[in-house]
Amino acid sequence: LAAAPGNGGKLQFKAIAPVPRSSDVLTVPEGYDWSPVIRWGDPLFKNSPIFDITKQSAKAQAGQFGYNNDYLNLIVDKYSGRSGVLVANHEYTNEDLMFDPEWFAANKAEAARIAMAAHGFSVVEIKRGRASARWEYVRGGERNRRITASTAFAVDGPAAGSALLKTAADPSGRKILGTLNNCSGGTTPWGTVISGEENFNQYFRGTGSATDKRYGIADAATERGWEDIDQRFSAHNKGFENESNRFGWIVEIDPQNPDSTPVKHTALGRFKHEGANIRIAADGRAVAYSGDDERFDYVYKFISKEKYRRGDRKHNLRLLSDGDLYVARFSGDSPAGQIDGAGAVPSDGEFDGTGTWLPLVLDGRSRVPGMSVEEVLVYTRLAADKVGATKMDRPEDVEPSPVSGKLYIALTNNTQRGTAGKAAVDEANPRTGNRDGHVIELTERKNDAAAIEFSWNILLVAGDPSKDASTYFAGYPKDKVSPIACPDNLAFDSKGNLWISTDGQPGTIGYCDALHKVTLTGNERGKVEQFLAVPAGAETCGPVIHDKDGSVFVSVQHPGEGGSYDKPISFFPDYVATPGKSKRGEVYGPRPSVVQVYATGKPG
Ligand code: FEO
Ligand code: CA
Ligand code: CA
Ligand code: CA
Repeated sequence: LAAAPGNGGKLQFKAIAPVPRSSDVLTVPEGYDWSPVIRWGDPLFKNSPIFDITKQSAKAQAGQFGYNNDYLNLIVDKYSGRSGVLVANHEYTNEDLMFDPEWFAANKAEAARIAMAAHGFSVVEIKRGRASARWEYVRGGERNRRITASTAFAVDGPAAGSALLKTAADPSGRKILGTLNNCSGGTTPWGTVISGEENFNQYFRGTGSATDKRYGIADAATERGWEDIDQRFSAHNKGFENESNRFGWIVEIDPQNPDSTPVKHTALGRFKHEGANIRIAADGRAVAYSGDDERFDYVYKFISKEKYRRGDRKHNLRLLSDGDLYVARFSGDSPAGQIDGAGAVPSDGEFDGTGTWLPLVLDGRSRVPGMSVEEVLVYTRLAADKVGATKMDRPEDVEPSPVSGKLYIALTNNTQRGTAGKAAVDEANPRTGNRDGHVIELTERKNDAAAIEFSWNILLVAGDPSKDASTYFAGYPKDKVSPIACPDNLAFDSKGNLWISTDGQPGTIGYCDALHKVTLTGNERGKVEQFLAVPAGAETCGPVIHDKDGSVFVSVQHPGEGGSYDKPISFFPDYVATPGKSKRGEVYGPRPSVVQVYATGKPG
């Protein structure tokens, strides 16, 4: 790879070589080092116990950092630059890595309660001695908070109080216990964190209804078996038929106020929300973009009714409560028959075209024939099916650049694209059996987030260019890029470079999941440079790029997945065998962790 430094501010680095998938190392560029900021089980409160993998309890876990941290942000207090809050969500649990199998078999109910407590969010204060130094978390910080599968959420928006959301335990349809499978997210211009409830279907036993089928809720015992200890997790229990309708939302939490009630926003629709990210439109309305991470599902945007008011937190906290909901339709502009499914670029030189945001709810009225507003919001997938939205290759993060305003859509993969009985290729999803995914760049008309029309082009068709002729890097030479597959989470540095974390490279191109920088402008547009690789079994999540400080933060999610408690394939991040005691008396195994990567100041 070319040794030329990137243009990421102080984050100069020479791309690392891709790392073989069995490597249990967090690999960073020359001139950089890393350390964990917080790990699964680290105590958040003064009275929370020190983590001990052999002595877990639900009570202990509710006061400790949860499992499988995914979305991440470090929100620095402006007045000091040396304090702030770290916000992470905890998407899911790996019981086979968390628990000794003998103990698990004898303690299934307590294990389920521990797993419930390991879901949700952590908010934890962070501090550093001087600006640019390394961050550490503050045990007992005033803003520290755990949100779990049992925390009370308020419901707002047009479907709050709907009959579709009522249960025997909540006849109001306005108070929901817990948040589940929070995947990606975003930090709003008013300082709150929004996050998507993604694969919520797996926690519920359904009845086989048409809506259950569309959302992937099976009428079968769930893998975690939570329905055995809490009746709300099975629709067969009278009075709890609607419980699964209460998940699949965008939730908003205020990390500055540990006493605030988190909110589920029905106005943004219900699907497998990867996350949501906000841009303010030309007229001041807040626009939230969101992907539904499923093969052949859709990209959405919500436009608030009210306008953002800088500094008016109370007002801004209501912006996601009322507005219009749209879904995207992409049209290609290449001559008919040129999208061959093998990934060859068409004769007009690009996969590109125009598109329209199709309204689902507009001015408080449903625009979907035969569906009420409440039905559109609770069964949003069925509504979008009816209006002719474009079926995409698993839309994950959908994130506007704070520098250019352009929107980037990570389409992680879709091996079923163009296969028998499935949707054919189109110019926005041009590859049959799309194993490695692609990234779309979308420009709203007049660069206004509230526009109804847009133009788009494919920035990257991912893969290993040394082995796959269908790859494309915005025209940049293929022998000068890092291989990349399964783009998932997106972030930007202060210069507007795109950073992409991956989920699935080991199973496709054979390398550990990674974090890559992609130059978007100038002669090097399309240049992909690998910054780091996460250890065996892990996925790279939640990248946060503090290039002005020379730091990058990542969530290392599910290290060791594919191994087990007895046969671990990862000992990240402490590299002490399980079970085995360290000097501090803690017992380690692979632990999902938030990591800071920092420049050492020594030349690489
Ligand atoms: Fe939880 Fe779409 O990744
Ligand atoms: Ca994800
Ligand atoms: Ca074209
Ligand atoms: Ca993913």
